[in-house]
Amino acid sequence: MTELPTSASGPSTGPASSQAAIRLQLRSWPEVEHYLQSCRGVIVPLGSTEQHGPTGAIGTDALTAEAVALEVGRRTGVLVTPAQAFGMAEHHLGFAGTISLQPSTLLAVLHDVVLSLARHGFERIYVINGHGGNIATARAAFAQAYGTATSRGLPGADRLRCRLANWFTASSVTKEARTLYGEREGHHATPSEIALTLHLEPSLSSKQRPLPEAAPAGPIHGPDDFRRRHPDGRMGSDPFLAQAAHGARFLELAAEALAEDLRAFLTEAEPAA
Ligand code: NI
Repeated sequence: MTELPTSASGPSTGPASSQAAIRLQLRSWPEVEHYLQSCRGVIVPLGSTEQHGPTGAIGTDALTAEAVALEVGRRTGVLVTPAQAFGMAEHHLGFAGTISLQPSTLLAVLHDVVLSLARHGFERIYVINGHGGNIATARAAFAQAYGTATSRGLPGADRLRCRLANWFTASSVTKEARTLYGEREGHHATPSEIALTLHLEPSLSSKQRPLPEAAPAGPIHGPDDFRRRHPDGRMGSDPFLAQAAHGARFLELAAEALAEDLRAFLTEAEPAA
């Protein structure tokens, strides 16, 4: 076992904290040093800044990842870093407002985030992700970070673990989305993610309006090809079905599932030497 919270008073099993208390941005460095004496876990929200159909917010994936991360942090007492709001969204660049990192750039960013945290003694890096396009690159970044931690001789290199948790694929979330929206959940600018943004930012409801049927999901190539296949940006989804109350429910389900997953991750036993 590594030095992780195992007692009832440890951050992973203690009472819920306030959101302010678990935001790394609001801590001082001595407070972070103190935190590391009882917990080696940290949550990194990972989003994207990309089009979400004609009525969805450009920041949907970053807003949702951060909200879920803060709620998981509040429930577990685990620190939450600032959100990485730019993700790999190359295929969305045909739509105004999208800001993308190339896969190699995102890989370098995540690699450096992990190595910075590992240098201070963080050993469980829990990335809460809001965007499917980040998954392959995040996994590659973790693989590279493990190698660098070892080659740099970081003291905790052999105990360093990174985990990617996609809030939108938690089984309770996908089940609820199926119940509420059926096939009209679709694959991009989905009513479930839009519902969560409506819950977080009520002003977004003013954009909601009925839309014609979306182009079905299909292969994704470059940005021009994407726009030809999916002219309004949606992939098989009907975001008009989204309601703020659904969003509150999705936040609850995602936070519940990921908090449980994070607790298991923090207390995972090391294999016998
Ligand atoms: Ni999205």
